[in-house]
Amino acid sequence: MKKGTIEKRLGIVADIVMFALLLTQMLYVFTGNNIHEITGIAFFVCLVVHILLKRKWIKAMLSGKIFKGSKAQIFSAVLTCLLFLCIITLALSSMGVSRFIFPSIKFLGSSDLHRYLATAVLSLAAAHGGMHFYIRAKKKKKAAVLIIVMTLACVALGLFGVPYINRHFRTVSIDYSSSVHGEKADWKGKKPLVVYFTRLGNTDFDDDVDAVSGASLMYADGKLTGSDQLIADMLEDIIGCDKKAVTLTGEKYPSSYGATVSAASKEIKANARPEIEPIEITDYDSIILVYPLWWGTVPPPVSTFLESSDFEGKTIYLIATQGSSGFSSSTEDIKESAKGANVEEVMSIYCDDIPNSRQRLLDWVKELS
Ligand SMILES: Cc1cc2nc3c(=O)[nH]c(=O)nc-3n(C[C@H](O)[C@H](O)[C@H](O)COP(=O)(O)O)c2cc1C
Repeated sequence: MKKGTIEKRLGIVADIVMFALLLTQMLYVFTGNNIHEITGIAFFVCLVVHILLKRKWIKAMLSGKIFKGSKAQIFSAVLTCLLFLCIITLALSSMGVSRFIFPSIKFLGSSDLHRYLATAVLSLAAAHGGMHFYIRAKKKKKAAVLIIVMTLACVALGLFGVPYINRHFRTVSIDYSSSVHGEKADWKGKKPLVVYFTRLGNTDFDDDVDAVSGASLMYADGKLTGSDQLIADMLEDIIGCDKKAVTLTGEKYPSSYGATVSAASKEIKANARPEIEPIEITDYDSIILVYPLWWGTVPPPVSTFLESSDFEGKTIYLIATQGSSGFSSSTEDIKESAKGANVEEVMSIYCDDIPNSRQRLLDWVKELS
C-alpha cells in the first residue's frame, strides 16, 4: 500500500477515535473522573498524530493556498482553525479543572467554561468531519442538511443531553471529612443562619435506595447524604454558624428521581406551598439560603419558608445548586417571596462541583469580611 494511502487511512482512524473519545468523555457520569482525565490525555495524543498526518494541509493553509480553493474548502479551513483554537483552550481548561492528573494547575479552572468548550469542540468536530464528506459528496444539498443536523445534535447533546444524563444517573462517593473540614473564616458582624433544602429527609427513600431511585445520590463515607446539606455543612464548618433544614411535615417526595421531577413540576404549576417545620429567624440579621434549582426556581417547600417568615431588614445570600441553569429565575422568585429582604446572589454551583466547593465558599466568606 502507498505511504499516502496508509496516512489517509490512519488519519480517518485517528478522527473516528478522537470523536469516540470526545463522546465518551462527555458521558463522564458513567466513567468517573479519573477515566475522564485519562481519556482526555488519549484525545490529545490522537490530536498530535492527526496534526502530524495533516502536515501538508497545514503547510498549504499557512501559505494561503487553501484560501484560493473552492468556497467549501475555505469554509472548511476556517472551521478547522476555529476547532483547533477551541481544542487548545479546552486543553488548558482541562488542566484547570483536573483533580487527578494536574491537581495544582488552576488556570481557566471553571467547570462551566470546560463544559461549554467541550460542547463547542464536539459540534465543530462533527461539522469538520462533515465538511470532508461534503467536499467529496455528489448530492451537496443532502450532505449540507446532514452536517447541520449532526452539528445541532452535538450542540443539543452538550447543552441539554449531558446535563440531563448527569442529573439522572449521578452517584458520587466522597470522603466527608476532607470535603467539609478545613480552614475557618470570620464572618463580619453577627453570624448568619444557614437554611438549606436537600432531597434527603424530604424524600421517601426505600431501604434499597440504589435499586429504586439509582439516581443523583451522594454518599459521604458510605452514608447517603444530601448534596445541599453538604454545602450547609461546609458553611457551618467555615463560619461556625447555625444551620437549619427546610423539612416537610406532610407527604414527602417520591424515591424515584424521575417521579420527583414530575411531582415538583405539578406543585410548581399549581403554586403549591407544602407544610414545613417552622424555622425561627428572628435572632439573625442574615440568612444563607442553600437550595437546588427545581424547574428553574426554588423547590416549593423553600417558597413556603420564604413566605412564612419576616425578612424585613435582613439579607438573604443565595447559593443555588443546579444541573445546568445558573440561578435561572430563582433570584427574582425569592425577591418576590421574601418580602422586605435584601437578596444577594453569591454563587450557583454545578451539581458535579458540590463536593469540591469548600474553597469557593471559603473565598467568598473571606471576601465578604
Ligand atoms: C425536581 C427537580 C427539578 C430540577 N430542575 C432543574 C432545573 O430546572 N435546572 C437545573 O439546572 N437543574 C435542575 N435540577 C437538578 C438539581 O438542581 C440538582 O440535581 C441539584 O442541585 C443537586 O442536588 P440533588 O443531588 O439533591 O438533586 C432539578 C432536580 C430536581 C430533582
